[in-house]
Amino acid sequence: MKTDTPVTIRRSDYAPPTFLVDTVELDFDLDAASTTVRAKLALRRNPAAAADAPLHLDGDGLTLVQAKLDGVVLPPERLAFAGDGSLTIAGLLDVAVLETVVRIAPETNTSLSGLYTSGGNFYTQCEAEGFRRITFFPDRPDVMSRYTVTITADRARVPVLLSNGNPDGAGDAGEGRHRARWVDPHPKPSYLFALVAGDLVAVSDRFTTRSGRDVALNIWVRRGDEDRCGHAMDSLKRSMTWDEDIYGLEYDLDVFNIAAVSDFNMGAMENKGLNVFNTKYVLASQESATDGDWQGIETVIAHEYFHNWTGNRVTCRDWFQLSLKEGLTVFRDQEFSADMGSRAVKRIRDVRGLRAAQFPEDAGPMAHPVRPDSYIEIDNFYTPTVYQKGAEVVRLIHTRIGATAFRRGMDLYTARNDNQAVTIEDFVTAMQDASGIDLSAFYGWYDQAGTPELTASDSYDPATRRFTLTLRQQTPPTPGQPDKHPVPIPVAMGLLGPDGAPQATRLAGENAAQPGTRTLLLEGTEQSFVFEDVPAPPVPSLLRGFSAPVRLRGVTRDRLRFLAVHDTDPFVRWESGLQYAASVMLEMVAAQQRGEPLGFDAALAEAVANTLAAAGDDPAFAAEALSLPGEGFLADQMEIADPVAIHAVRQHLRAEIGRRCRPALRATYDALAETGPYRIDGTAIGRRALRNTCLAYLTAAGDGPLAKAQFDTATNMTDSLAALSLLADTDGAARDKALATFHARWRGDDLVLDKWFSIQAMAARPDAIAAVRALYTHPDFDLRNPNRARSLIGAFASGNPSQFHDLSGEGYRFLADAVIALDPINGSIAARLVGPLGQWRRQAAARGTLMRRELQRVLDTPNLSKGTFEKVSKALL
Ligand code: ARG
Ligand code: ZN
Repeated sequence: MKTDTPVTIRRSDYAPPTFLVDTVELDFDLDAASTTVRAKLALRRNPAAAADAPLHLDGDGLTLVQAKLDGVVLPPERLAFAGDGSLTIAGLLDVAVLETVVRIAPETNTSLSGLYTSGGNFYTQCEAEGFRRITFFPDRPDVMSRYTVTITADRARVPVLLSNGNPDGAGDAGEGRHRARWVDPHPKPSYLFALVAGDLVAVSDRFTTRSGRDVALNIWVRRGDEDRCGHAMDSLKRSMTWDEDIYGLEYDLDVFNIAAVSDFNMGAMENKGLNVFNTKYVLASQESATDGDWQGIETVIAHEYFHNWTGNRVTCRDWFQLSLKEGLTVFRDQEFSADMGSRAVKRIRDVRGLRAAQFPEDAGPMAHPVRPDSYIEIDNFYTPTVYQKGAEVVRLIHTRIGATAFRRGMDLYTARNDNQAVTIEDFVTAMQDASGIDLSAFYGWYDQAGTPELTASDSYDPATRRFTLTLRQQTPPTPGQPDKHPVPIPVAMGLLGPDGAPQATRLAGENAAQPGTRTLLLEGTEQSFVFEDVPAPPVPSLLRGFSAPVRLRGVTRDRLRFLAVHDTDPFVRWESGLQYAASVMLEMVAAQQRGEPLGFDAALAEAVANTLAAAGDDPAFAAEALSLPGEGFLADQMEIADPVAIHAVRQHLRAEIGRRCRPALRATYDALAETGPYRIDGTAIGRRALRNTCLAYLTAAGDGPLAKAQFDTATNMTDSLAALSLLADTDGAARDKALATFHARWRGDDLVLDKWFSIQAMAARPDAIAAVRALYTHPDFDLRNPNRARSLIGAFASGNPSQFHDLSGEGYRFLADAVIALDPINGSIAARLVGPLGQWRRQAAARGTLMRRELQRVLDTPNLSKGTFEKVSKALL
């Protein structure tokens, strides 16, 4: 039984801080078992707060040694501690200096929030609310301060001492200890504080900004990892150049440090001047990194670097505004990656990702607006909705006002709000002022949850040569938001003639026809657009480039086939092929459920043949076009999913296509064999992607030895892993041998070993659950390491739907067991992993009952973390 139900924090309850902190002096005496933190805060009463309001300081797990106010030790009766560890002090003057001394224990901090140790080194993670685990402080983003940090530690064991800003002296501290001082001239919120210290080595380079600032760039890693930092460093320099070129934004310190750590809750963190990264997004070599890894590093390095302006210089007033920095920064990193490689393929991948993670979230128990109204644990709101849908909303505004006005809007936004903690209104207002376009309706995208459904119907009148396109929108209800309003939906579109040729378009009232793509704006629930002078019934191509994050429904199969071949827009070509396949596959799922034969739609094989024939032009696009809709995507199209039937249909189709297209697949596979040196440019990556897609079809068609041969001879991780994951789905000696070989070769490399765990966790074999349980007790498994926990538990629950949803309920039981074991160690990761159980409403009753039972078992666990409590209790509502 729970005694104290966690508190819900509401956006409407925002109140400004009672005190501001102009400067902070922090002094760390580092020791893994007991670190002493001295803090000196220069406090000033916030003019926006009441004259007698007390000082509120957050704190979490701190042992207070002493507190002094204006030089005088505070007696215990002046210190009002609350149950959450926070501290309230009343009776302050308008200006005051508070000095505190606290003790913390980094080596027992398994939550990886606050100051913790990893491999004997020290690291911090403060976003969102980790700084309160380091010292007493108004730990909220609207308190921005200038920090000076002194770190003292054992010189031999902790030779490197890093914090935010610029270095400001170092020296001996006696008794084998040494000391370093860091000064950050830029005011920042506490969530951007960082400290990294330990036995680390740097890979270094330099960058000169447009206005001539010479910046030292360092990537700090463990000894031995130096030769795997080159791509991260290149990505950093490209990001710095891009932000200058596209947005005129320059770096603003003399040093930019990145530290890589293997125990990390998230991908990376944008602390001012000292980014901390999961090693996964820094370290890469030909032998150890897949193409996905290379691309992930480029994206995440760029993302964190771009935060320096969108997040750090201009930050969030409160955590409800999180998407102000995250949505905008994801939009910026997406555009950066699009400029570095193929824009079309990047867009396809981003949309794939949005639909795989955000659409289901928006249709599930945790559905929330891009700007949430309430939360129990803010950590639970670092979501695909805040990040990816948030980026789509920024893109909508970009589409609506155009690139030039958007750039002016960014200039205005950064100039007006520099060094301030602001809200989404400040962003939208800047864009509105820069463009002169009323954007007020776009708040609907920020404040309303759920994915809008867009339907189109049309008619053609040969007598008047008029084509009328009617667009309609509707958003399904989400928890707490039963009634939805229409939102502005930009629909980028064009018309194709019956021969497939693009037509110029003229809307009623316009003087001249426009060639190419144009953007219609659907503002109400339903709107008709009349096109004049249309010579013959056209086929509309809608939502080019995925111009809005909606579900477009009701395009006929004939039109999908037509668009997949003829449209000028690569996104629509890809999308139409995908939707066609999805529609066929969903019909097959229904047949499978009725126990009828599955059959085969020859048009699918034809499409594969056509794609292969044209693959030479753009192998990366061809690889995307050849990939069948994923199991999760199909499940998300069904009211009640059937993971087992979906898996069976997909396997059947892969095998059938493989058999029917075998010669062409084999020819492409052979033609793409790499002869030259290993490269990681878009073309080389596209060639490997296409070749491995062919391999998957050929293997499904029964060509087992091919995957084994590729595994045995692969010279890079992409090819090795592609082959291994196909082998992992098979039976027999080759599988076991390949897995054993891979383990023996990579047992010393955590990032690669994660892949070894994942591949087995995702193998859709009938013994999957037993295999996953066995891996859970494998000597290389470590529940405390987030990457490893995700690689097994997350990969199984999210990446192996047909086995996770096994009707025995054993998959659910495994997940609940793991979450219950992990929650006291790291509640943040436990709360993330429990997610798939929350989707019980989308499963048949037999499964839903079992899933709810496991959710209840988690909920009944004593001392559950706030985060896991929130996820599980909301899922059970
Ligand atoms: N701001 C970081 C990023 O997106 C993520 C930090 C997330 N931290 C957390 N506790 N959820 O780059
Ligand atoms: Zn971010």
